[in-house]
Amino acid sequence: MAEMIRLSVFRYDPEKGGEPHMQSFEVPLLNAGMKLLDALNYIKWELDGTLTYRRSCGEGICGSDGLNINGVNGLACITPIEGLKQPIHVRPLPSMHVIRDLVVDMDHFFDQYRQIQPWLQTITPVPEHERLQSPEDRARLDGSYECILCACCTTSCPSWWWNGDRFLGPAALLHANRWIIDSRDEATGDRLDQVEDAFRLYRCHQIMNCMEACPKELNPTAAIDHIKRKLLARKS
Ligand code: SF4
Ligand code: SF4
Ligand code: FES
Repeated sequence: MAEMIRLSVFRYDPEKGGEPHMQSFEVPLLNAGMKLLDALNYIKWELDGTLTYRRSCGEGICGSDGLNINGVNGLACITPIEGLKQPIHVRPLPSMHVIRDLVVDMDHFFDQYRQIQPWLQTITPVPEHERLQSPEDRARLDGSYECILCACCTTSCPSWWWNGDRFLGPAALLHANRWIIDSRDEATGDRLDQVEDAFRLYRCHQIMNCMEACPKELNPTAAIDHIKRKLLARKS
């Protein structure tokens, strides 16, 4: 008989009323490399079709299945079942408005991403072919462009929990820095102006939860620190 895995999964359906609660499930260990997403899929396909959660790529690329797993944010699709303490507690990303079960409202998170204007801005004429970048300048974008906007970092940040209406949070600031350090971008001054604010940037108190939560092993704390140092250098 297959080994069984015990899970305790957050449930909430506002259309049915009732209080949010945790529901217990048991699913078979399907294979040695089984991931948490496989267990959620088993629940949905075999036990309870009403369980609601986001997922798409199944391999850590789309960023849609950020969850709180045994108290730590991560992506269900790349989190191995092996090694997780049971019952595995699966909850929505912290501090987010829950739409249903494990699905949270991401509007504010993506609005903050839009606020940093995540596209190349230039004032010089468009070259005939392309805006070139040296291999060294391109390498400076390593550690930024890999972000998949899963929100694991931002929703693990206590400063964002308390001031998320005004503090941009680690994901948006990582992307702000990504454009600040891009050698082709010509709006650095405007970008720095935009984040220079007691709340938008300086609410980061270097607690570093964001770095520990990132499933892509990125370091938003270092990106935020770089923006602060750029602002300091601009003043002196
Ligand atoms: S380092 Fe800054 S952004 Fe990251 S968790 Fe701490 S306060 Fe939040
Ligand atoms: S920095 Fe990491 S945790 Fe934050 S949104 Fe990007 S990939 Fe997700
Ligand atoms: S399903 Fe796409 S990152 Fe997990």
